[in-house]
This record gives sequence, C-alpha cells and structure tokens, in this order.
Amino acid sequence: MSRLTGRVLIIGLGLIGGSLAKALRVRRTVTTVVGFDRDADELETGLRLGIIDEAASDLHAAVAEADVVVLAVPVKVMETVLNDIRPSLRDETLVTDVGSVKGNVVRAAERIYGYIPPTFIPGHPIAGSEKSGVAAADETLFEHHKVIITPLPESDPAAVTKIARMWQAVGAEVLQMDVDRHDEVLAATSHLPHLLAFSLVDTLAQEQERTDIFRYAAGGFRDFTRIAASDPTMWHDVGLANKQAILQKIDEFTNGLAQLKQAIETEDSRAMLGIFTRAKAAREHFSKILSGSAYSQNMTTKETVFHAQPGGQVQGTIRVPGDKSISHRSIMLGSLADGVTEVTGFLEGEDSLATLQAFRDMGVVIEGPHQGQVKIYGVGLNGLQQPPGPIYVGNSGTTIRLMSGLLAGQQFDSELSGDESLSKRPMERVAKPLRLMGAEVETGENGCPPVKIKGGQSLKAIHYDMPMASAQVKSCVMLAGLYAEGETSVTEPAPTRDHTERMLRGFGYNVDVDGSNVRLNGGGALQAGNIDVPADISSATFFMVAAAITPDSDITLEHVGINPTRVGVINILRQMGSNLELLNEREVGGEPVADIRIRYAPLKGIHIPEDQVPLAIDEFPALFIAAVCAEGETVLTGAEELRVKESDRIQAMVDGLKILGADIEGTPDGAIIRGSELGGGVIESHHDHRIAMSFTIASLRAKGDIEIRECDNVATSFPNFVDLAQQVGIQVRKEEQ
Ligand code: S3P
Repeated sequence: MSRLTGRVLIIGLGLIGGSLAKALRVRRTVTTVVGFDRDADELETGLRLGIIDEAASDLHAAVAEADVVVLAVPVKVMETVLNDIRPSLRDETLVTDVGSVKGNVVRAAERIYGYIPPTFIPGHPIAGSEKSGVAAADETLFEHHKVIITPLPESDPAAVTKIARMWQAVGAEVLQMDVDRHDEVLAATSHLPHLLAFSLVDTLAQEQERTDIFRYAAGGFRDFTRIAASDPTMWHDVGLANKQAILQKIDEFTNGLAQLKQAIETEDSRAMLGIFTRAKAAREHFSKILSGSAYSQNMTTKETVFHAQPGGQVQGTIRVPGDKSISHRSIMLGSLADGVTEVTGFLEGEDSLATLQAFRDMGVVIEGPHQGQVKIYGVGLNGLQQPPGPIYVGNSGTTIRLMSGLLAGQQFDSELSGDESLSKRPMERVAKPLRLMGAEVETGENGCPPVKIKGGQSLKAIHYDMPMASAQVKSCVMLAGLYAEGETSVTEPAPTRDHTERMLRGFGYNVDVDGSNVRLNGGGALQAGNIDVPADISSATFFMVAAAITPDSDITLEHVGINPTRVGVINILRQMGSNLELLNEREVGGEPVADIRIRYAPLKGIHIPEDQVPLAIDEFPALFIAAVCAEGETVLTGAEELRVKESDRIQAMVDGLKILGADIEGTPDGAIIRGSELGGGVIESHHDHRIAMSFTIASLRAKGDIEIRECDNVATSFPNFVDLAQQVGIQVRKEEQ
C-alpha cells in the first residue's frame, strides 16, 4: 500500500496508541511513526521494542512537524492535551483520537477552538484487551475489528478519507456514525457490560466466603468477568464522560434484572424461558440481526460461491429438510393458539427462522429450534404484543405476506421490511384485499416493502376473488379473516397450496372449502396441537431432477410432503417420462407424505399443462434443467408469476442456461426450452436459492465446470444442500469469498 500520511505522532503509548504505532510501523504505511508519552519509561520501551521510529522529547516540536496527530490518551485528559498542543498544530495537520466516548471530545474541541476545525476527525477503534501499557502493543489488534469515525458537518471530506485509510491500512473495517448515536450505542454494547463486570466481581469479592467463590468459579464466571480486569482509570473516565447514556442503560438493565428476579421469585417458567430463549437467539443470530440494523450499510458480508464439477451421480436414501411453507405456518398458528404446540421436522432455514424471530419479538415464548424441534407457548389470537421496532424478515415473501394479514388485525402498529430482493417484490397484492377489509396498510415505492400497518382497526369480512393464483394472498386474507367480523371468503383462479386451511382445521378452527372457495368466520379460537413437518417437496425436487437426468441414478427421498396442491413436479416429471415411484404413502398430521424413489429414464420434452403451473410454482428452476436434458422441446406457458419470485426466475434461468450453451428462449409467461448439450460457465443466481441449487444439479450433465455466484440465500430454504448433494454423489463445493 502507498504511504499514506507522512509523519504520524501518537500521543499516549498505551495499549491502543502503542498497537496503532506498531501496526503502522510494521506495515510501513507511513513514513515515520513518532511517539510521545508523559511516562519516559513507556516511551523508552516503545523505542526499544521497535514500536515507534522516534520518541519525541519535545511535544510541541513534534506536533509542529506532524502530518497527523493521534490523541491516544485517557478520555479525561483529552481536553488538557488538545489545549496544550493547539498552539503548535499547523492548520493542515489532521487530528484524531481513539477515545471510547465521542461527545465529550467534540465538546472539548469546541471549547478550545470556539468552532470545530475541519481537520479534526474523532475516531474510536472497537478493539482492546484487558491488558494495558506499551509492552502489550499488538500490531494485529485492529485486524478485522471495526473503527468508528464520527465526522462532523464541519469535517473536511478529504481529512475523513485520510483518517479512514490510516485505519484500513492496519486491517480495520471503518464505519461512520453520528457522535450522539455512537455514544448511545457504545453505552449499551461496551460501557454497560464493563461496568457490570466490575460491579459483579466487586460484589462477590466482598462476600465472606469469597475464596470459595473464586476457587470454584469455573467457565461462566470467568467468561462473564474477564473485562473486570480492565484499566480502572480508563473506565472511571468513560463512566463520567458518557454519564447520561450510561445511566439510561443502567436503568434499562435494572428493569430487565428486576423482571428476571420476579420471574424466579414467582416461579414463572414461561417468563424465565422467554428471557432465556430470546437472549439465546439474539446471541446466536447476531450477524443476522446486524444485517437489519444500522451497522449493515458498512458491513461487508461474505459471498458464497458454489463450484460444481461436471459429471457425478445420484445414489442413496436421504431426507431433505422440513417444508418451508408448513414451518412458517406452524410458528404463526402455534403462536396464535391457546396452549403449547410442539413442532418436529421444523425447517431451520433463514426464512422460517425469520418468522420465528418475528413472533419472539411479539412476546411469544418459543423454545428451540433444536434439531427440528420447536416448542411454542401460544398466546391466543389476541395475545401478541407490539414488537420493539420494525420486523425484519430477510428474504422471506411468505413471512411478509402472511404476517401482513394477521398484523392487520392487531391493536398495535407494525412495520415489515426485508432484504434487497424482497424489497423489490409486489406487496399491493396483499395490501389491496386488506384495505377492502378496513385495514390501514401502506406499502413503499412501487408497492414494494416496507409494509406499514396501522393497528386498532376493526376489520370486516369480505369476499375476495383473487386475481392471481397465490397461496400467500389467500393465506393473508384468511389470517386477517380470523380477526374480522363475519365470514371471510376467498376464491382462487386455480388451486394453490392449502397448508393454511389444513393447519387451521388441525387446530380446531372451522374452515369451509367448496371447490375453489375457502371460507371462515372471525372471532374463533385455535387449540394448540402438535405438528410433524414433512420434508419439503420443493427441496426434494433438486434431487428428483438430479436423478431424472443422470444415467444410472437411483435415489429415495424420505418422508416428503405430497399434498395434492404441491405435486405438480411429480406429474410433470412423470409426463416427461421419468421413472418415479411413491412408496409408503401415509398421512401425518393432516398432510399426505410418501417416500419418493426416482431412477434414471430418458426424458422427452412436453407442453407443460397450465393447470400444473401453480402446483409446481417453486419447482420451475429445477424443471428447466430437466427440460434442457430432455429430448425435444418443452414449452412452459401461464407462468408469469415466476417473474416476481425471489428473482425473475424466467430471466435468471434463460440467462444462465444460455451461458451453458442451451437452446432456450424466454417468453412473457414462460419459456421454450430445447434439449441441449451443456457446457460450463459462470452463473449469477441473483441471490435466489432455487436458481443456485438448480444450476448445481445441471453440472451432472454439463461438460465443463459451473461456478455459481451469490449462493448465500440457499440457507433460506435448504441450509445443508451442499452436504446432501455431496453425499449422493454431486461434485459440488462451497466457497466463501
Ligand atoms: C408459498 C406460496 C407460493 C410459493 C412460496 C411459498 C406459501 O407463493 O412460491 O415459495 O408458503 O404460501 P405464491 O403464493 O405467491 O405463489
């Protein structure tokens, strides 16, 4: 990297100042690193250990020569030091600091200068250890750590960039934040935990039998209190410098602790489990939570790439993960039921976890998931609480659309938002019928998320003729219908998945189905019951098609849901000539289930019957692969819905298959696909899980390597896809870039 800044003077060679000095010096990113410390021994040690190039004996002379001055002194003396060096600072010299509180530093600069100099760029590296002093300096301390810089309106953008580059040069990830926000966030994430650790250890250390306590204090105590060995003076200063924000957080924590105390006192297991399960989930899913928060703009997420080698085979017996649609509904209806619902076979994918988290955020106590088991302590139809903020549902269309319906019936306001892909998908299809029911629903630009719902409306029942075949719209209206007065009825233009109807009935709710019409009356109650989620036929599809296109294949997929509204893929593959058997057909918790065995047989192109399209709506990306491996022409029509899925699936498949050399044309509502030889290439999956998995199985018949980009969202529906694919003989590997 080019030299950035000439002479950098670091005032204060503690752990942070020393580590920055060492990191800059080791990486040779600046011409000269000069150190100053009022403790001559520390300065001497810094020089001796090669942490600095030069030790400044005269602070003022060193300041006058510096291009950048880094104030790495305790927060409390920041003002004194800045005041002292000010006369020697040249106008163009950049000044930054490393204090863990920013408001007081900015106010100090204002007092000293009477204004904010454009060259003053406050900063805060979120790194450290309980060690202190220059001898503890560590040149890797900032690697992969965040450094927050808090520029002010007066800051010179070029100065901001230079300070950012200095931190990037030592391996840090730089992000920017407003000064007040910084202090508030840090009070919660750093200051409060440190103060708690000090307080806990101090309290226990005062007890009579303290030797015993410390002697037997194993992992938990040690982990929790490591930071109580931090520098007392520094934390004294931080405590005072960020007093207001810290007091606020101490109050919030005290309330939380009082609630836990009360729960234990009254042996309120549900309240205790509520606190513990929410905390466990939050701790485990930090990164997911982060991607919906203020940090996300600057957060670099890793990209997942699949590398699939040509050839391979498909043999064995496997069980793919639980049905996504049923998993979502199990959480929703389990939460709204009276009593405890136990779910097995739950899909631990990001989409269904988003639903689970949403209900936790609305006060429902949910244990798990643990190996597909979830226990939901239902709160009844009217027991949901207002979530603390907008509900972030990631990539999940089912979550946002179904929840819009049931949130329309709540007393509180709510907002639903999602990731980039979901933020481009149409939401007016649910907002419109909900408005007809008297709900107040607002969608964002072009009718896309966020969806904002005003609570406290009294809903009235409607009859709704759905303009498109969509189970999500049907389910949304029915869920709102639970809260409406009178009979809500929906007619669909073609049969779509009926899991909501089945599960409502399974929970004792009366639902009338008459041909294409579904009706229910509002104001009833749901009785909790147990749910066994079958394996997802949509996930099984990738292996069905894999075996169908690969000579000598023979695979059995166990316990797959074969609900008649989902079996389009079976009907279509059979019509194309596939050798597919349903074994051990049975019914589990109101849903038909079977083991599916498929052996290779040559496929032929067909005109896919339009009545099968809604019954195979999620399976088309994989069916395109089947079609391209079939002899002759396959024509798909009436499938315009594919254009508004997680990606425009017609376009994504046409583009990808063309790259592999296939003869394929897209049409507004489908495609014409001719049997072709496939080569290799680089495919964009547009962050669409089903596109990524489809091109993986294409490798079985390809002549070259296929690299599939943007595969991160495979985790939304099929987290162990690559493992299972490898297990049956597909030559794919996952790489995080
Ligand atoms: C789903 C319905 C379908 C499907 C989606 C899940 C559901 O969407 O594509 O993956 O769980 O209700 P549409 O109902 O919008 O077709």
